[in-house]
Amino acid sequence: MDVWGNQFTIEKWQRLVTEFLEGGNSAPIININPTDPREFDAIFLGGGAAGRFGAAYCRALGGRVLIIDRWPFLGGSCPHQACVPHHLFSDCAAQLMLERTFSGKLWFQNLNDKIVSIKSIVELFRIGRVGPHAVMNYQSKEMLGLEFVLNAEAKIINAHSVQVGDLKFHAKNLVLALGARPAVSTLPGAQLKGIFNYQSLVETLDYEPGNTVVVVGGGKTAIEYGCFFNATGRRTIIVARHQVMPILKDAESRSYTLKMMVEQGMEFLENAELINIQGDELGKVQAVSIQTPEGVMKVDSDFVFMALGERANTELVSQTIYPDLDDKGFIKVNHRMQTSIPGIYAVGDVTGPPMEMFKARKEGVCAAKNIMGKVSEYKATDYPDFMHTHYEVSWLGLGEEEARQRYANVKIMKLPPENPNGLDVGLPAGDRMMLYLMMKPRMSGFQKLIIDGDTRKILGAFHIGCGAKDGFQYLNYLVKRGLTIDELADMDELFISPSYFIQLCRLRAGDINFKDL
Ligand SMILES: Cc1cc2nc3c(=O)[nH]c(=O)nc-3n(C[C@H](O)[C@H](O)[C@H](O)COP(=O)(O)OP(=O)(O)OC[C@H]3O[C@@H](n4cnc5c(N)ncnc54)[C@H](O)[C@@H]3O)c2cc1C
Ligand SMILES: NC(=O)c1ccc[n+]([C@@H]2O[C@H](COP(=O)([O-])OP(=O)(O)OC[C@H]3O[C@@H](n4cnc5c(N)ncnc54)[C@H](OP(=O)(O)O)[C@@H]3O)[C@@H](O)[C@H]2O)c1
Repeated sequence: MDVWGNQFTIEKWQRLVTEFLEGGNSAPIININPTDPREFDAIFLGGGAAGRFGAAYCRALGGRVLIIDRWPFLGGSCPHQACVPHHLFSDCAAQLMLERTFSGKLWFQNLNDKIVSIKSIVELFRIGRVGPHAVMNYQSKEMLGLEFVLNAEAKIINAHSVQVGDLKFHAKNLVLALGARPAVSTLPGAQLKGIFNYQSLVETLDYEPGNTVVVVGGGKTAIEYGCFFNATGRRTIIVARHQVMPILKDAESRSYTLKMMVEQGMEFLENAELINIQGDELGKVQAVSIQTPEGVMKVDSDFVFMALGERANTELVSQTIYPDLDDKGFIKVNHRMQTSIPGIYAVGDVTGPPMEMFKARKEGVCAAKNIMGKVSEYKATDYPDFMHTHYEVSWLGLGEEEARQRYANVKIMKLPPENPNGLDVGLPAGDRMMLYLMMKPRMSGFQKLIIDGDTRKILGAFHIGCGAKDGFQYLNYLVKRGLTIDELADMDELFISPSYFIQLCRLRAGDINFKDL
């Protein structure tokens, strides 16, 4: 299907993408300018976050680029199977925690002992995701002027040539932006119906899960999806072979985060592994056995969610061009995003962790600059991070333990302050925490700022609550540039919002021998 020269509206893309996704139409969607005589500066294999942003930057620098993607839309896994459903589920988890806390009070319906449908939320997502797909196709074609072939599997012929069906394309450079996919369990029974990962959940769930969910893994995916399943009212057991949330480095922040999840009824089995998956006569999972430090535990469940990490999509390249891979199978790149093969770059999830949107997009841009002759280097370090539980957990810099190892005079400011009665104090009470503040103060969040008392520079910040996440992007930028508590105290806060520590810092600003707060 040649779409070059036809201006498609967002609505038309929406209809088309739905038709291709649902109808199984295998025709490629071709948007290539037949009158441009230039050779492609780069072919981006994969039009997800890394490929689309890289291609747009290449084009912005005057290059000619082609994106090839096997899906009928640009944008990749984030809007289709990963971040966007995760955000929808996490929004639901936050909302449901609020509703359960206030169940039967004020204007809240009585949700206690009620189970909310997972299937209907998944179905909502399946229908709704096409909107963002349509916007990205429209934006890429009409506004960014990108050339692409969609709904088409690419095959690499050699370092400069790619084949899509009967079509062959040649370019000065190739950019591998092929993404990653969920790791699959090798346990017998892992293929039973009812065993899901984040992809199969949104693509194939066709029944309402029962009362008990088993989640395997201790990373962000396990925690974020686990909190959602729990918030729907189901018993949720997280099985982690080591620790859960190792990414959350500050022990006190981690402990508050865990405590709040446990109060919602989540069960955590650390140093535990699934040893057996049992199915019924119809091939559907019905129970799992878990080896825990205390012994073997059998759990009846018709819904098991595996969050075992990611594997790079490297089959395409390992058959033809053989770039160097690391010991986990991710494509090795230098800081210019160059692989071991001249003229071939790799960007995004296919190069390994951290697997985050900013990293994928920035690697795409870095490759684009180098391709267009602007020497550029990028390595994802010192970035702000987040994870959803029923809350938003945001952090940057060092946790207290590491800060104390590296600095002699560490100061801490936090809310709630230390108090003999534990955490049952209604502060920080930032955005969307006010009802908790009045009803269950200990649920109104936790925040902590870690400072080098000698230079007065901020070393780390942790926030558990809502509303702080977006601002951490900017806070991190300032912290990396040496923000002090006095400079933070000099900012203009908007009313009570404690999320960025401005008031706390102002209470100690100017004090040359300041103490913890
Ligand atoms: C559950 C989950 C939640 C997440 N949530 C967040 C979040 O909240 N925030 C965040 O920053 N990050 C999040 N991430 C990470 C984020 O989704 C990824 O880092 C990002 O999408 C990677 O982009 P990419 O371009 O590298 O890969 P992708 O977006 O996967 O793009 C790869 C593209 O390559 C195409 N492709 C592959 N092989 C071929 C082939 N042979 N021919 C043609 N096309 C091909 C695919 O169709 C795909 O479009 C999440 C990840 C997961 C798993
Ligand atoms: N920004 C976001 O909100 C967001 C959300 C989701 C994912 N992501 C990104 O996507 C990437 C993948 O995240 P993830 O949580 O899916 O994976 P992950 O961080 O790699 O965690 C995988 C988990 O699975 C466990 N595991 C691996 N193989 C196992 C096996 N065979 N049996 C039992 N347990 C096993 C690991 O245990 P051990 O490590 O203890 O061995 C770990 O706990 C990460 O880079 C993450 O940052 C981002």
